[in-house]
This record gives sequence, C-alpha cells and structure tokens, in this order.
Amino acid sequence: MRSHYCGDLTAAHEGETVTLCGWVHRRRDHGGVIFLDMRDRAGLVQVVFDPDTEEAFERADRVRGEYVLRLTGRVRMRDEAVRNPRMATGDIEVLGQELEILNEAETPPFELDEYTHAGEEVRLKYRYLDLRRPDVLENFRVRSRVTAETRRYLEEQGFMDVETPVLTRATPEGARDYLVPSRTHAGEFFALPQSPQLFKQLLMVSGFDRYYQIAKCFRDEDLRADRQPEFTQIDLEAAFVTEDDVMAVSEGLIRHLFKTVRDVELPEFPRMGWAEAMRRFGSDKPDLRIPLEFVDVADLVADVDFKVFSGPAQDPRGRVAALKVPGGCELTRKEIDDYTEFVGIYGAKGLAYIKVNDAGAGAEGLQSPILKFLTEDAIDGMLRRTEAQSGDLIFFGADKASVVNEALGALRVRLGHDQNMVEGDWAPLWVVDFPMFEREDDGSWQALHHPFTRPAGDVEELKRDPENALSRAYDMVLNGTELGGGSLRIHEPETQSAVFEALGIGDDEAREKFGFLLEALRYGAPPHGGLAFGLDRLVMLLADCESIRDVIAFPKTQTAACLMTSAPSPVDSAALRELNISVRKSEGNQS
Ligand code: AMO
Ligand code: AMP
Repeated sequence: MRSHYCGDLTAAHEGETVTLCGWVHRRRDHGGVIFLDMRDRAGLVQVVFDPDTEEAFERADRVRGEYVLRLTGRVRMRDEAVRNPRMATGDIEVLGQELEILNEAETPPFELDEYTHAGEEVRLKYRYLDLRRPDVLENFRVRSRVTAETRRYLEEQGFMDVETPVLTRATPEGARDYLVPSRTHAGEFFALPQSPQLFKQLLMVSGFDRYYQIAKCFRDEDLRADRQPEFTQIDLEAAFVTEDDVMAVSEGLIRHLFKTVRDVELPEFPRMGWAEAMRRFGSDKPDLRIPLEFVDVADLVADVDFKVFSGPAQDPRGRVAALKVPGGCELTRKEIDDYTEFVGIYGAKGLAYIKVNDAGAGAEGLQSPILKFLTEDAIDGMLRRTEAQSGDLIFFGADKASVVNEALGALRVRLGHDQNMVEGDWAPLWVVDFPMFEREDDGSWQALHHPFTRPAGDVEELKRDPENALSRAYDMVLNGTELGGGSLRIHEPETQSAVFEALGIGDDEAREKFGFLLEALRYGAPPHGGLAFGLDRLVMLLADCESIRDVIAFPKTQTAACLMTSAPSPVDSAALRELNISVRKSEGNQS
C-alpha cells in the first residue's frame, strides 16, 4: 500500500512522488492550509494540503488525530526559516495530492506525544495506544535487536536453541508456582516453569552439550519495578565446563550486546566474593558506580548504654554499620527526616546520624541526637574508622544484619543519586562464592540459588557445616541490577541427595518431586553448568528505562493483573466442573 515509511523520508527524496500510510499524529490549520504530522513505525513527517487540491483538501479538513490514512504527495524542501531540526524529517515536507481515509478514530484517552504524563493505569488499559508513542516503540526496537544479536552470538559459539515445556512440574527457584489444572487427570495440576532449569540439565545428560533458549518464566512473587510474574530469560547451559567457561561466554554475550546495540565498550568485570559485597555494600548486587561503603562499628558500641546500638552489636545475627556521606553536613533536617522515612520501608526503626561540623573541635564540633548516649571512646573510634572530615555526615544502622543491609544498602544507592555521586556510566561485576544456603525465619535452610547448585566443598563438609558451605554459583551485576545468575550443577546423585537432605527434603519427597532428575543423574550425567539472564532487565538497562514494564509489550500491574484484558478473570461453572474444581468463596476471591 505504501512506497515509503514516513520517518524514512529525507532531502534525498526531493521531487519524488511518494505514497504513505499511517496515523495522524497532529493536525493544524494555518490560514487555509492544513498541516498533518503523519506517523508510522519509522517516525513522523509533515504533510501539507492546500486548497488547490480540492478533494484531498476537503478530506484533510475532516481528519482528526489518530485517523488512519493513505496519501500520495510530492516531497519538497521546506523553506529555510521553517525547517525543524528536532524532527528527523524536519528539512522536508510532503505536498499532499491524494488522500484516502482508511479508518476513523475516537479521541484517544491520552496524548500520544512523548511528553505525555498520563498515569500508568490508563496507559496499561490502552496499552495498544501507549505502544504507538515513538519513545515507547523505541524500547521494542532495542529489545528486538537484543534477541537477534543474542541468537547470533550464541549460535556462533555453538549453542543450540531448544524449546522446553511450559506445562510441566514445579521447578523451584524460590517463588510460588502458577498452577494449571489438568482436565484429563482430575485433581492434578501442571506448574508453569519458574525457569527451564531441570530441562536444560537433562539436555546435558542427553549430550546436547551447549543449549540456549529465550524462555518465558513464571513466578508468583511480590512484584517490584524489576520483577514481573511472567518474564523472559536468556537461558544457557553447557557440559564439560568450569565456571570460568560459563562466565567467559556469558560476559562475551553481554559485551557483544552492549557493543552492537549501544556502541558501548564495557569495562572490566571484577569478581567479588559475596561476603565482601555484603560487608562493603550491604548488597549482593552492589552498584559500584556509587563510592559509598559501609563501615562496621559494632565492636566500638558493644558496651555503650544505648540499647539501640549495643543490642545488635552483641547479637551474632546483628549488625551496626556506618555510612559516611562526604559533605553531608549540608543535608537539611527535612532531608534527614525523608531518609529516615525511606529506610523505614526496609524495616529500619530509625536512622541515627552524626554531623561532623568541625573534625578538630572534639565533641563541640559534632551535632547529633545520639552523642549523649555514646562514650567518648566510641565516638572517637567511629570518627577515626570512617575517616570523617569536617563537613561530613555519618549515618548509622543498627538491627538484624539483614535489616541493616537492606536499609543502609538502599540508602547508599539513593544518596548516590540524590547527591550526584554516581561515577561513570557502567559498572559491571561478578559476584561469586555465595553461601549454599540461607536460614529462614523458622530456622530451616533454603537454597540461596536453587537446590541443583554444586557445593564448593565435598558432601561431608556440607553436612557438617551447612551454614558456612559455599556454592559454585555466580551472579552478573550491572549498575546495581542483578542481570543474571548461574552455577555449576550437581551431576552425582549422591551429592544431589545430600543437598536435598540438608534442605529438609526427605527421600520420599525428593523421589516424588525430582525422581526423574535423580534417576537421570545415574545414567551418565556429564559435569555441567550454566546461567540465565533476565532479558527484560537487560533491555531495561540498554534502553535507559526505569522499569521492566517499559520494555514488556503487555506487562502486568503490581498486583499481577492485566488491565487491558482484565486477566485473571472468573471462569464459568461448566469449565470448572470439567476441571473438577470448585471455587471456595472466601474473602480472598470475592473481590
Ligand atoms: P534466577 O532465579 O537468578 O536463576 O533468574 C535468572 C535471572 O532472571 C531474572 N529474573 C526476573 N526478571 C524479571 N522478573 C522476575 N520475576 C525475575 N526473576 C528472575 C533476573 C535473574 O538474574 N535457573 C536459574 C539460572 C541458572 O542457574 O542457570 C535461574 O532462574 O535477571
Ligand atoms: P530513639 O532513642 O529511638 O529516639 O533514637 C535516637 C536516635 O537513634 C534517632 O536519631 C533514631 O533515628 C536513631 N535510631 C533508632 N533506632 C535506630 C536503629 N535501629 N538504627 C539506627 N538508628 C536508630
């Protein structure tokens, strides 16, 4: 239907007659002349209709925003004075000659130019209109480049694309499962995969050697800006590899994507142990662009009268840490109150601070609500250890280590941005030497990655001291986002059984849930390992977006619903009967 895309026209087309198809982005009437900004996938171009072309002019007079048109006209240069340097096609315009209205449109519920501030709710309800916005469309161009280049790179490295089932058994990755009732097996359910983890391991047992897949994963978990219930992984696995092999190919892929999609040469990827990351940044995904670090001070305050500090300082699972903000004396009372409220979101019960107005003036030079609770030695020690200078402010967190890490860790990132301390554009790293397990509140052990991760030591060590057992897992982190994670896997049935045992998964349960895996490991499973990247998060960073919702065509809301299709939705009783399901009426499902 068209000869050119609107956005592709340039001065080189001057004098050509072109046929364009697209939408009316904007319509203006200027003293008897009608200007239409026509929009298609490639961009915008200005089309002018003057009354000389009577029929076309009359139709142009009738069109409104978002009408669908096909038009023919001649490309001409604009007068110097009216060229628009902000528009890619701003040197030219099309003098319209024929105009066909292919479809009319109601007035959209929000403006479609890139400056629109329509709320996310209305944008998601009319997502097909939101996706018409040129800057939103751009994110999907980036996404398409990323998947194309991923395939190209991995195929060149000898990886083979294999699809794994979506209707399957539970694959534990730490979230709740989405369940699908079976009609043919009354009372039984499929689970949607939280990842293709077990299938890719089985492909290694099959000898596929190098597998990849751009795979949909499903996790019923609390949502945040970088989490969706349905998301996509770049999933890979290889046999006869060490962690260095997997990390090299993964890093190579990310470098390739940044180079081809953004023309960015990423810097070195340093490796940092998990314990070091937690100690210095309170996070296993530290944003290394921010030059603030935690300083532990528990030993200095263990004996002070201030219970807020001495309690956690004496608790083996507690932590008392300081975060020095250079020049932080400038912070106002209001800003400090805001930060106190902010750390409250992460469970912190307060945010103590000391302003170092004059480092040479002893207690006189300090300003703080907690000085009266602390000994001189403790204060001196803290100033020395944080190397505080005049003008600096020191924040303190004291609580369970997990609370301090989360609260001060988030504060560190927020301060970095608020105080313009972010250094450089891209700071990647590998986090390694993760613990095998973490303790739940009820005292039980959970796999930090997943239960198929290979322990660093032998089975005896693991059984003796699960708390300190390390795994052969690795995470790739970029600018404070966990882009991907993986590990070497267990390939011996005895080790797998030992890990299940440590996790409190008894023999019967292990056989019931993972019998097929344990069995497969007995038929000649090669050593193997792999990794999965979060594709949405990767595209979010490459497209400079704030949320993965911006790079998912039809994302779900914070409550895991689709506003456009109104999913999830009730089903009629006949369908339920066929599935042998009866819905219990309770508060939870009446809303
Ligand atoms: P993991 O659970 O770390 O590992 O997931 C890998 C990567 O997937 C992304 N991701 C998500 N992205 C959006 N929304 C979510 N809800 C979400 N959850 C995870 C993250 C994460 O780094 N099978 C293992 C990988 C392996 O061991 O090979 C796995 O799934 O970017
Ligand atoms: P309070 O005695 O509770 O009024 O607290 C005195 C100071 O300590 C205030 O500045 C609080 O913000 C701060 N504070 C209270 N609890 C904590 C905590 N868990 N970690 C850090 N500072 C805290």
